[in-house]
This record gives sequence, structure tokens and C-alpha cells, in this order.
Amino acid sequence: IDFARFYVCEASELANNHIRQIKPPGHDPVALYRVNDEFHATDDTCSHGQALLSEGEVDEDFVVECPWHGGTFDIRTGEALSFPCVLPVRSYPVAVEDGKVYINLRAGRAKE
Ligand code: FES
Repeated sequence: IDFARFYVCEASELANNHIRQIKPPGHDPVALYRVNDEFHATDDTCSHGQALLSEGEVDEDFVVECPWHGGTFDIRTGEALSFPCVLPVRSYPVAVEDGKVYINLRAGRAKE
């Protein structure tokens, strides 16, 4: 597996303003978002509990809301935006090339 260039899916498979869970082998699950036709990726597991952000809601302002307690994150940076989420989730660079979506899992990082 090339973790620096992990192939996820065809871009056309994910509708705008939707979230998909990715399970790279040997890696924590990742949430892939398509918002305003931009692709972004973060850890799927909320930093507050064990909820999956891919089961939450994302809006046009690039904010995902956790399905358990309603905390929110910026999907572009992983930054926690509202209570009870305080700690960030890691975010990952996403590249779309020839209609294919790749995530750089190596470069995942939490916002300082
Ligand atoms: Fe996500 Fe509590 S588990 S806000």
C-alpha cells in the first residue's frame, strides 16, 4: 500500500455535500468529504468519543457535525469548532487526478 498516495475511489462516486468512510488497511478509518466540489479528508473517529464523523452531517461551510453530541469540526483543517469537541482530528491532503481520488495518509496531521 502506498500510504502517501492511497487510492480511494472515483471522484464521481461521491455526491456533492456527502461523506464516505474509508478503511485503509492498517490505518484508522478516514472520512472523505465532498463539499462545494472540493474533496477533504479527516480522521473518521470524533476526538470527543467513538462516534463516526462519516455518519454525521456536513454543510456548505465545510463544517461537519458529530452525530453523537453535536460537536463540530472544520473538515479542511480538522480544527474543533464547537463544544464538546476541543481536540482536533487529523486532516489529510486529498488529490484528484484524472477523476480519481487519492489521500496522503502519511501527511495526516492535527492542527497545532
Ligand atoms: Fe463526537 Fe461527542 S462523540 S461530539
